[in-house]
This record gives sequence, C-alpha cells and structure tokens, in this order.
Amino acid sequence: MDRAAHRRRFLKFLASSPLLACGVPEWLAGFADAADAQSDLPKRASIATPNEALNVFDFEPVARQTLPRAHFGYLATGVDDDATLRANREGFSRFQIRTRRLVDVSKVDTSTELFGTTWKTPIVLAPVAAQKAFHPDGEVAAARAAGAKGHLLILSTATTVSVEEVTSARGGPVWYQLYPTDTWRITQALVKRAETAGCPVLVLTVDLPAGRNTETQSRFAKEDTRQCSSCHQPGWQGYLRRKRMFDGLDLTGVSLFSPGLTWDFVRRLKDTTKMKLVLKGLETQEDAELAAQYGVDGIIVSNHGGRAQESGRATIECLSEVVDAVRGKMPVLIDSGFRRGTDIFKALALGAKAVCIGRPYGWGLAAFGQPGVEKVLELLTRELELMMRHAGATSLAKLTRNFVVDLRRG
Ligand SMILES: Cc1cc2nc3c(=O)[nH]c(=O)nc-3n(C[C@H](O)[C@H](O)[C@H](O)COP(=O)(O)O)c2cc1C
Repeated sequence: MDRAAHRRRFLKFLASSPLLACGVPEWLAGFADAADAQSDLPKRASIATPNEALNVFDFEPVARQTLPRAHFGYLATGVDDDATLRANREGFSRFQIRTRRLVDVSKVDTSTELFGTTWKTPIVLAPVAAQKAFHPDGEVAAARAAGAKGHLLILSTATTVSVEEVTSARGGPVWYQLYPTDTWRITQALVKRAETAGCPVLVLTVDLPAGRNTETQSRFAKEDTRQCSSCHQPGWQGYLRRKRMFDGLDLTGVSLFSPGLTWDFVRRLKDTTKMKLVLKGLETQEDAELAAQYGVDGIIVSNHGGRAQESGRATIECLSEVVDAVRGKMPVLIDSGFRRGTDIFKALALGAKAVCIGRPYGWGLAAFGQPGVEKVLELLTRELELMMRHAGATSLAKLTRNFVVDLRRG
C-alpha cells in the first residue's frame, strides 16, 4: 500500500474511533472521507477573520478555541458513540453526481418555493437552541445574517432571544420550532405567541420523545471548571427560566420532552393553530404516509444532526423513501450533516425542496458572530451554485434524480 493509502486508512481510523469521539474535529472526518487524502495535503490554517475561510469546516477550530469547553461540547455532541453523527457525513459518499455538458450555465437560479413564499436560496438555518451560549448576540446575530443574505430561519423553542426580537432582527417572519412539552397549557401558550408574532409555519420536532445520551457533551463539560449555575440552574425549570419563550409561564413540573406523544397530538395541534404544520425528525416511508393522512403540511427529514437516537442511519439515505411516500403532496426538507454545496445538490436532486444547516452556522456564530454566520451561508451558496454550473442544472426545477447515481442501486 502506498503512503497516501496508509494515511487515509489512519485518518479513517482516527475519525471513527470512539476513544477520540470528543477530540476529533469534524474537518478531520471530512479529510478521512476525501479520496484525495494525500500525504502532502497542506494543514488547515487557523483563520483570524471570516473572509479567510475556504469552507465551513474552517470555522470549527475557531469555535472550539473560543467557546468554553462545556458550550463547545453542547454544539459538537452526538449521542452514544456519535455513530449517527458520522453516518450523516458518510452517507453522502453513497451518491455520486452525474454531470451534463454544453448547457448554458451563465445564470443559475437557486430559488425555491415553500408555502407560497419564494426564497432565493434553499439553504435554511435550522433551529439551534441557546445561541447565547455561542455568542453574546445569540439568535439576533443569526437572524441578522439570515436577513442580510435572504435565508429562511427556524427559531428554536429554547431560544435565548424572544420570537418578537428575532423576527425584527430577521426583518421578516421566521418559522417557529416547537418542542411539544408534556404540559398542554404551556404548549398552547408557545403556539399562540409564535402565531401572534407572525410565524407562518410551526415546526414540531418529534425525534426527542424521551431524552438522549450525549456522552461527548458530558466529557467536554467535565473539563469545564467554570461555575455554570450563574447562567442556568439544574433541571428543566432552571433551563427553561433562561429561555425567553417561557417568560411569565408557570413551569412547575414541566419538561420539554413528551414520551406520550402520538399522532393524536399532531391532530390536536392542527386544530389549535392556523400556522402550517411541519414535522421535523421523520425518516421513514411509513411515518411520511401517516403525516399525509393526518394533514401535515410538510416534513423535515432529520435525525437532529445525530443528536437524538443512535440509529447509525444518514438522513440523505432516508430522503428518497420519504419523498416517494408523500408523492408531491407536501414539501420535504432535510438536515443533518450538510457541510458542502455538493451535499446540498444531492439532496435537492433526490427531491428535497430545501436543506437546513445547524452546526456550521453555530461554528460561524461562535467564531465571529453575525459576520461568521454570513460567511458560512455565502460559502455554501457559492459551492451549491458552482456545482449546479458544473452539472448543467440551471434551476432547482431542473435538478432531478437524473443528476445523481445511487451506488447501492447502480
Ligand atoms: C447546538 C444545537 C442545538 C439544537 N437545538 C435544536 C432545537 O432546539 N430544536 C430542534 O428541533 N433541533 C435542534 N437542533 C438540531 C438542528 O435543528 C438540526 O436538526 C441539526 O443541527 C442538523 O444537523 P447539523 O448540525 O449536522 O447541520 C440543534 C442542533 C444543535 C447543533
């Protein structure tokens, strides 16, 4: 075996080792994936400004250096051995891109339509909780970046800034993500507040019914010697009191998780709100069919970025069965592991209407605040446009399954 092949095997071993799960940066996994992990590959240089970044991975080491250990661990973590986290990245290598030639690609149109609104880009900021843990401006910085670059933003239930402030910082409506909670009176209050703030779409997250095992986060937290109780008290009450959407609500006995959640809750929610209802966290044909039966308006194929259950299954590998099951009746979005324009291209070709990103903008936010988030969005947009040009796909409408080869199917 030549040196390059040895090096590649070693990097793969490192990236997949549970022993190093909390120490291996995402970009190393990216390197190990790359077929061209050559022995003379230059090291990733540290960046001092957003404009020095060549790709979104460049923000991760800056975030790692900047953030307190516990906060970086929260951003980085998967669950158990972080196998699903890695699977999300590895899944993209199952699909290759079929390129067409001699197409006029002087203009490419990345716009997409969701519930009657046209967005100039299909790249969406996923709901990410507690953003003041990453930067003092928190969700306001992310919302300003989304507004400046024309992206849709989905605001987390566990936001550290109110939906009203975020809407104003975005300069237009945002979608609101709902954790169901185990207390209907609280759920109702959250839904009403989002509706009153002008959110057109409610995104119900259904992949965290009963807690999770975030070992990487715990390992980082152990290394953090700061006194956390000045920011948040233990338990759900302590956590939620710092989250602006819960201001003025009696939180006695309330949990964000709801182990008793079933399709009846979906029906109840539909009857409660005029907002469109999107389910976040579906992965199977069976659940997509049920979503259609229950009058759900859209689906986000997601495994919470490998932070919920350890299924070991990449979302890109779940996408086709969900798209096929809904038969065009509703838009299907996707997230988890998207780091490159080519990843986004593959999902759009497989039928997604939009792609959400989580950690990459978290890294940008932690590293440089609003300008960091803007640069992350800019890099992904540029990479997507470049891939569309290379492939001869000049609009999302033209970006069909003919542009990808599924290596498992041939
Ligand atoms: C730090 C962090 C906090 C998150 N908080 C939420 C949340 O409050 N609600 C939710 O539905 N998903 C949440 N997610 C999951 C994201 O919405 C999204 O599914 C995931 O980040 C996509 O994977 P990626 O990080 O690989 O892009 C969070 C993700 C991260 C990294």
